[in-house]
Formats: sequence, C-alpha cells, structure tokens
Amino acid sequence: MGRQPESVSFVGLGYVGLCTATVMASRGIRIIGVDVDEKRIEELRKGHPPFHEPQLQPMLKTVVRKRRIEFTTDASQVSDSSTVFLTVGTPSREDGSIDLTYVKKATQDVGSAIAGSPAYHHVVVKSTVTPGTTTDVVRPVLEASSEKVCGPELGLSSNPEFLAEGSAINGTLHPDKIVIGASDAKSSTTLTKLYRRIYSKSKVPTIVTDPTTAETIKYASNAFLATRVSTINTIANICQRVPNADVETVAKAIGLDPRIGPLYLKAGPGYGGSCFHKDLQALISFGRSKDYDPLLLTAVEEVNQRQASEIVNLSKKLLGSLDNCRIAVLGLAFKKGTDDMREAASVRVIDELLKNGAKVSAYDPMAVENARRILGDRVELMQDAISCLKGADCCIVMTEWDEFRKLKPSDYKSNMKTLNIVDARRIIKRDDFDGFNYLGVGLGLSS
Ligand code: UGA
Repeated sequence: MGRQPESVSFVGLGYVGLCTATVMASRGIRIIGVDVDEKRIEELRKGHPPFHEPQLQPMLKTVVRKRRIEFTTDASQVSDSSTVFLTVGTPSREDGSIDLTYVKKATQDVGSAIAGSPAYHHVVVKSTVTPGTTTDVVRPVLEASSEKVCGPELGLSSNPEFLAEGSAINGTLHPDKIVIGASDAKSSTTLTKLYRRIYSKSKVPTIVTDPTTAETIKYASNAFLATRVSTINTIANICQRVPNADVETVAKAIGLDPRIGPLYLKAGPGYGGSCFHKDLQALISFGRSKDYDPLLLTAVEEVNQRQASEIVNLSKKLLGSLDNCRIAVLGLAFKKGTDDMREAASVRVIDELLKNGAKVSAYDPMAVENARRILGDRVELMQDAISCLKGADCCIVMTEWDEFRKLKPSDYKSNMKTLNIVDARRIIKRDDFDGFNYLGVGLGLSS
C-alpha cells in the first residue's frame, strides 16, 4: 500500500475508534483503520459509517476520497505505524465485570505485527479499561507477542477518550482535555507531539500522568456524570410529590452555584447509552475485587433502573389502569442525535408498559431499525410521529428530539383518543397545551 512510516493506526472501528481516526485524518495525519468486521470495512472504504453520528459522514467521505485513511481487516498492516491506538470494545461480563477479551486479542495482534520491526512503536490504550489494565494486562501480552521490552524501543500509554455520542466529532475537534497516562518519558513525548500536530491552534489542557491514574480518570468522569443524573432524578422524584415544585427551576438555581455548575442536571427517564451503565458496573465490580464496596455507585445505578417506573407511574396517574390502553412513545434512542438504543431508558419504560397490559406504538426519527432488533414485534413501530399518536390514550415523550419540540397541540388533538401527555424530558411548552392532561418528570401537581 506504500504507506509512510508516520502513519497512525486504530485497531477497532466503533464509535471511539472511527470518530477519532476520521478527525485525525481530517487534520492531515495518515491513518490505517483496522477492524475484524469485513462488511464494516467494505462500507467504510466507500465512506459509509456504520452508525449515525452528526458530521461524521461528510468528513469520512472527504478523507476517504483524499486517501488519508485506509481500512483493512489485516492487523499486520499496523507495523508501518509509529503510533497504534487500541480502540476495541470492553463489554461487561454477566456479573458486570469488564471483559478484556478484545483488548488482549488486539494487543496480541499488534505485538505480532511489530515483532521484528526495527522502528519505534507506541501502543496507546484508548479503550475504557479498569485501573491497572495497561500495566498488568496489556504490557505482558504486548511484550510477549512483540518480543520487545517496553522502554526505548516500545512505548505504551493509556489515553482515555471522553467524547459523547451525538457530539463526537465536535468533541474530538474541541476536547476539554487530553489525558496521557504514559509508562515512560518517551511515550509521553511521542503522544504529546502527536496531539500538538492535531490541536496546533488551540491550547488543550493536557494531564500527563501514569497509565493507572489515566484509566481511573475515565471511570471517575463517567461515575461523576452518572451520579449527577441520578441525583437530579432523585430531586425530580421528590418534586413530583410536592405540589407546585419544579425540578427545572431547582436545577437552574443550583446550576448557578460555581461549585455545582449547570451541566448534567436535566431530569429525565434515566441515563442510557453504551457507557454509563457498563462502566459503573465495571467499577463496582473492580472495587469489590479490591475489598471495597462502592455503595454510592450501586445506589446511582439502582436509582437509574427505577426511574423507568417513575415515568410509567405518571401515565398510571393519568389513566388509572394501563390495561388495554394505547400508549404512544415518542423517541427510542437513548438521547437525541444518535440512533443508538443500547441501554436506552425507552426499553425499560416499554417493558413496564407492556407488563401493565398496555399496547405500545413507538416512533423515533433515527433509531427505528435498531429498535426493531431489540423490541421485535412487541411494539408497533411507526414511520412518523403523527401515525404514532393516532388513537393513543396517552403519549410519553421519551427522547428530546427537536422534531418533537416542534409538534403543535393540534397534532396531538387531531390524532389522540384522549389528551394525556407524560413528558419524560420536559420539552413541551405547557402553556400552549391548554385542555391537555399533562404530567412532566419533576413537576409537582398544582395544588
Ligand atoms: C458518556 C460521557 O458523557 C462521555 O464523556 C464518555 O466519553 C462516554 O460516555 C463514554 O464513556 O464513551 P454518552 O454515553 O455518549 O457519553 O452520552 P451522554 O451525553 O453523557 O448521556 C448519557 C445519558 O445520560 C443519556 O441517556 C442522557 O439522556 C442522560 N442525561 C445526560 C440525562 O438524563 N440528563 C443530563 O443532564 C445529561
């Protein structure tokens, strides 16, 4: 393929790998992207991403056309790269602990690829891994498979990723920080230099530390954010039980306190997505393996699991029994801007609605196909919001898509059987909805 030695490789082309690789390619760095999924590689060569992410598709098309990025299933191609990022998935085992199978396999593949190469290679663990993994798991596998020793000829670092789905490209272009957990000074210099090439114009705060602290920073970040969401949902559930109390005003006020800040204070149906639940479970399990029970995190998870019942209870308040009632669920993705259904709160809510004997119709602007795989024929998946509302006894707004903000009262009035709305994201302007029975998360009934 005639690659130049300064190329950078990514092993694993999921969210983190593909978005980061594409942004680096757009900044003029030659990228080799490796994944075991042949179909994914074929599509990527045509510039087609395997998931919806704003701004990704045009950027990917451009870098593919300009040949700044090459895709392959052959991991041995990484031998031409000075830096190799490991960006494979770290799923949960049944007991919640982290499954490092893909990390070990990718490390082994990379080690075998660079074995015998006289050049300096730097292996960077970007996958989310529990504290100590880079040093205690990756390092021995890498040293054995490459027949090299970490140090002057082989670099090793942890470099966690903080991008969020739906704003992954923007987040990668403008990160709030870079965390480099280097195992030695040369690794640290190599990675710092690479990031300087990418972010030459902006001064991104960079924390240089050891691999284990870097790995811990990633879990601390997700644990803290998830805790904020469960905290505000707890306050919302209390507000719901107090006449006139409104969590939105509470959040606005406490967010003005610089010690608290305004972000991640939006009450809702509970967090979803591929990370918070998985990472909290992994951290809880890790803590227990070290003889420490992280009670706070267990509570954060439990509050989150129960939040679905809070939403279903609002619909029960409006309808009494849900048996044979038709519920229209607007929004299935775990948040707006993505087609991702992993751990989506919509699934927990729908499961409970069905258990209560309701019939469910559902619609999402992006996630219908993924929803079909998860929900099958248990719900009626509709092609637009209006058909979803037809004949409904109650509508639950589950995802904060702009499309749902734009629905007019007449859209509900001319389609629903009875005008009951549960707003699990607080996106509806209540003042425009005179004559409706409206309940919102975190909103106490007026006395
Ligand atoms: C999260 C983190 O935000 C990223 O920094 C991290 O890199 C990523 O996990 C990861 O570990 O890969 P993500 O799961 O994409 O990113 O989504 P978030 O925007 O954090 O939202 C997670 C969930 O919390 C969503 O269901 C969202 O609706 C919910 N949420 C978020 C709330 O209910 N209220 C809020 O105020 C904020």
